[in-house]
Amino acid sequence: MKKILLTGGAGYIGSHIAVSLYENGYFPVILDNFSNSERQVINGIKALTENNFSLHDLDCKDPESFDKVLEAEGRIDGIIHLAAYKAVGESVQDPLKYYHNNMTSMWAVLDAMERLGIENLVFSSSCTVYGTPENEVVTEETAINPAFSPYGYTKQACERMMEDLHKTNSRKKQIRLRYFNPIGAHPSAVIGELPIGTPNNLVPYITQVGAGWREQITVFGNDYETADGTCIRDYIHVVDLAEAHVLSLGRILDKSGSSLETFNIGTGKGTSVQEIIDIFQEVNNTPIKVVYGDRRPGDVPSIYANADRAYKELGWSAKYGIEDCLKHAWHWQKTLTKPGS
Ligand code: UD1
Repeated sequence: MKKILLTGGAGYIGSHIAVSLYENGYFPVILDNFSNSERQVINGIKALTENNFSLHDLDCKDPESFDKVLEAEGRIDGIIHLAAYKAVGESVQDPLKYYHNNMTSMWAVLDAMERLGIENLVFSSSCTVYGTPENEVVTEETAINPAFSPYGYTKQACERMMEDLHKTNSRKKQIRLRYFNPIGAHPSAVIGELPIGTPNNLVPYITQVGAGWREQITVFGNDYETADGTCIRDYIHVVDLAEAHVLSLGRILDKSGSSLETFNIGTGKGTSVQEIIDIFQEVNNTPIKVVYGDRRPGDVPSIYANADRAYKELGWSAKYGIEDCLKHAWHWQKTLTKPGS
């Protein structure tokens, strides 16, 4: 059974990937320091994998962590590197926190691969690397414009680190997955997103309003040049996203020679903030109080994926629609207890 190291594997996306890996015959090895994830997620992963994974409570920034994992596991066949901070606004307030964490972690992963002879890497990148694109539909060939947040810049820089390594004669097989907006939860409602404190992202905020944890959602701007005035994004189910990682690994694990490939992982369909709120209320029969506020600095009006390359090369496409995403997010929310209550 191939062992796949998941840095940040106890996070929202990492936990779903761990389950998909297990379901596809891999053995997930989680490395996480729980700086931005809750330990209770491990119980969910245990339940969904029949305990077929291992956990290393270590810091991805520390090069020695990788030596310890390899020593304990005996072999690592590939790495999926997810460990990173991801709050755009916080990165503007505290850029050094982001440069330190996200770039040092990436360096430590690449350094460990060089030192320990690990050849396969799938990296969690983001559509944020396109900055403000000229055209709202982006392909992998769309120009990389200046990042508008330190967070976005760390993703660009990490992609560049992979590129520079690829240009050396390093025998790495690397894939960069540019995620659009992952939402939803495992259909079993055993794992899902567990934001610490106030959610930054749209869907966990909506579900917390639905659950009565928060009074209302503020829509950040309804005066954009879009059909209903609110921003448009490409929302993708987290289980579909997890599947893209499994297919990426399948593509590189048994391949020889070095390679660097990039894939957009999105549905190819844009949905507005207002539509998300409307669909959530309808499919879950739950009212959401909405207020309209100012635009959020740094928001791109509209962006969605052309994901043709992922379909052609990986055989990947999204199976879940937006209704499923919002139903699953709500099922998951209903399993949670309000912190402090
Ligand atoms: C951003 C990043 C993305 C990153 C993700 C992780 C960009 C372009 N995108 O996604 O790369 O992976 O964060 O955190 O930098 N909204 C509201 N009210 C709210 C919350 C959000 O109206 O309370 C709106 C936002 O203005 C936006 C949409 O909902 O239009 C989605 O926001 P969010 O879920 O935060 O994701 P992005 O900013 O698109």
